[in-house]
Amino acid sequence: MHLLWLLLPLASAAAEANDTLLWGPYRPNLYFGLRPRIPQSLMTGLMWFGTHDYLSISKTRHSCDQGDGISSYTWTEYDTREGGVQVIKDGPNNVQITTEFLKVAGGDHGGSWAARIKGEPMNPDVPSRTSLIFYFGLEGLGGIDMDTDELENGFEGDVKFSGSTPELDDFTIRIVDGPNNNHVSGGLHADKFEERIGKTHYLGQPVPRGNLWQAKELLLQNIIKRAQEILAPYKDSPSPPDPSYVLQLPDDVYTGSNLYAVQKSFDGEFQFDVFFESASSKQKLSSATLDQGIPALVASYGKRFQNAFPFPSDYPAEKRDSLEAFSKAITSNLVGGVGYFYGTSIVNRKFSYEWDEEDDTQTNGEDGETGPRLTEPKALLTATPSRSFFPRGFYWDEGFHLLHIGEWDNDFSLAILKDWIDLIDDDGWVAREQILGEEARSKVPAEFQTQVPNYANPPTLTMAVTAFISRVKKIAAAAGPSDQDLGMDFAMGGGAQEPLSAPAELGAGSQYIQSPELAHAFLKSIYGPLKRHYDWFRRTQRGQIKQYARVARSRTEGYRWRGRSEQHVLTSGMDDYPRGPPHAGELHLDLISWMAFFSGTMKDIAEFVGEVDDATSFGEIEQAILYNIDDLHWSEKDQMYCDANVDNEDESYHVCHQGYLSMFPLLLALLPPSSPHLGPMLDALRDPEQLWSPYGLRSLSASHPEFGQGENYWKGPIWIQMNYLALRALYKKYAAEEGPYKARAQEIYQQLRKNIIDNVFKEYERTGYVWEQYDSLTGTGMRSHPFTGWTSLVTLILAETY
Ligand SMILES: *[C@@H]1O[C@H](CO)[C@@H](O)[C@H](O)[C@H]1NC(C)=O
Repeated sequence: MHLLWLLLPLASAAAEANDTLLWGPYRPNLYFGLRPRIPQSLMTGLMWFGTHDYLSISKTRHSCDQGDGISSYTWTEYDTREGGVQVIKDGPNNVQITTEFLKVAGGDHGGSWAARIKGEPMNPDVPSRTSLIFYFGLEGLGGIDMDTDELENGFEGDVKFSGSTPELDDFTIRIVDGPNNNHVSGGLHADKFEERIGKTHYLGQPVPRGNLWQAKELLLQNIIKRAQEILAPYKDSPSPPDPSYVLQLPDDVYTGSNLYAVQKSFDGEFQFDVFFESASSKQKLSSATLDQGIPALVASYGKRFQNAFPFPSDYPAEKRDSLEAFSKAITSNLVGGVGYFYGTSIVNRKFSYEWDEEDDTQTNGEDGETGPRLTEPKALLTATPSRSFFPRGFYWDEGFHLLHIGEWDNDFSLAILKDWIDLIDDDGWVAREQILGEEARSKVPAEFQTQVPNYANPPTLTMAVTAFISRVKKIAAAAGPSDQDLGMDFAMGGGAQEPLSAPAELGAGSQYIQSPELAHAFLKSIYGPLKRHYDWFRRTQRGQIKQYARVARSRTEGYRWRGRSEQHVLTSGMDDYPRGPPHAGELHLDLISWMAFFSGTMKDIAEFVGEVDDATSFGEIEQAILYNIDDLHWSEKDQMYCDANVDNEDESYHVCHQGYLSMFPLLLALLPPSSPHLGPMLDALRDPEQLWSPYGLRSLSASHPEFGQGENYWKGPIWIQMNYLALRALYKKYAAEEGPYKARAQEIYQQLRKNIIDNVFKEYERTGYVWEQYDSLTGTGMRSHPFTGWTSLVTLILAETY
């Protein structure tokens, strides 16, 4: 009874902490887009264009786009609870824009926030003329009105709006100019525009449900329509008026408006603030809030960062400032790249390839339902691999994202994890790509939009769960044995005789780490769906052993990815990695390795939540899988682990391709340090003719006939998350535990870690971005950028947090 009583304040503290996560830059597909974690609510966005000519409006910046030619955009600091600072270098428009975002807790509806948008010329000797539009719109229930009286030529002072929604309750939005702004003035025809020069222009417009994400197009249409009218008299004139005078919102508010936009145009440096004030919070916001709040945020971020990711002693002190700034930026971009998505997705319950068809496992779906269908809308808080190129949720990436995010803000990583767990359906399936809503779909080619309920993806999510458990155990251990069972001293804010400094830092700011009760309650709540998900994997991705007279200690543990095509195994996550021909009798090495890993993590979770029988059975399955990895996949002839396939005589044979695939049992630390197979694997890993490069481990051996061929996506380029797995396995197991290869593993670990850090950092300094992958011959960053998803793991590699 007293336990429950003690838990009440805990639960309310957790709810309060959850409040600080309500708002965020949860539209990471935009350069700057704030919204709350509420399905249909207030959406804000920033857009801008140059006014030095008439053409640049056609290149208006809004959603992150590699084609924009932005030199870099990066959160230099971003904290989940406090806010952050982002720097955008728009070279083509000669402006560096800084967006500062400060959360201000208080009241009963998730608090208030302030944002400052400021800019300066990148090159002061060249004109820098920028027109910016801040907009906000409402989806769903509620309303917004403009409180400032309308003026037909725009405003000189502040602009104020008030609104209300069921979740946010009453709020106001104010937009306030900075002190030293200049505006384009003078020049040809300036006299005709005098009344409008230097003013703030505006528009309020009704937008049909579901169309708010197209705010940029809607607003530009208004500007262009108006400009055409103004420019008509100058049709034949060689010198039309300055674009700054013409490319303006029309200063109208229509009845029933749910989209409002405020436009400001500047010459040179500028600054303006946006305040969102929740009515239930009594604190008034002003520019002083930002003047003081942002430097304080930057300072506290720096301190916290050094605690969370201590700078390694093996790197020279003179590199510290630049490496630490880099490490902060990639962490901030991962965390600041978290988005909140809501909407329908497309699922085809009946699709299958011919080699998948004989399965009796595809019982999903209603009878008669064929073809792609829209699902019910779903919500998801998720990190994103790339704000420009992959601004949506990816299952296989997310486990890695959460490892990193969990080290910064454990409870935020749990909030994300919970949303993913909630997507697991009754069968235990979760779609590998989460393309929720029209806005998300607009970024995905049609042929990749449909998800299929017997397709899997590497089960990485449980990594985040076991990482959480080990944080809880660490703090419990620090608390001493007497507290371990109840942990009440932590719940109540301190152990009796413990030196508090270490534990306090370990679980800093985390309700769930500090309270074993909350931790258990959380894990119990996700355990059921996780188990369903695990069972789904075992049921739907099973491979055939008996049918082809394969000899193995376990008659059941073999696995095969469904949904592969002739050329691709997208579900494996290693799309074009060489494999054998599609066949119902294939067995995939990476999948069986993932299943051993999945079983091992499920065992740990079951043990932690006290599901003793389950833990035993997960352990037995894990052992059976480990036997079969050797029995079914080791090729003595090739001295490597391989896929297995079936030939025309129905004989099983090995399909061997040296690269990430052949290394899986090592990457996931499945082999004991004494395994005789480790020797040849480490040899191939360290061989410059095979996997080793000065920039990291390449995906396919340089000696493989397909190295660098075709799409060359997984046929050579270096992927950081795979290198992270290698480093983690070496650090925690092969370089740490006794065995014949320990010294070798240590040497490889040291050198590989250095190669990865140095190259990703060098390319960041050279290009302004971190990249999706790196060329294994030159180290050059390749494909999507910024790619601050799993490439950000470099922070963990630098701090040796595995
Ligand atoms: C946290 O807040 C969000 C947004 O209001 C809400 O959907 C979620 O249920 C809350 N979670 C908890 C654990 O209170």
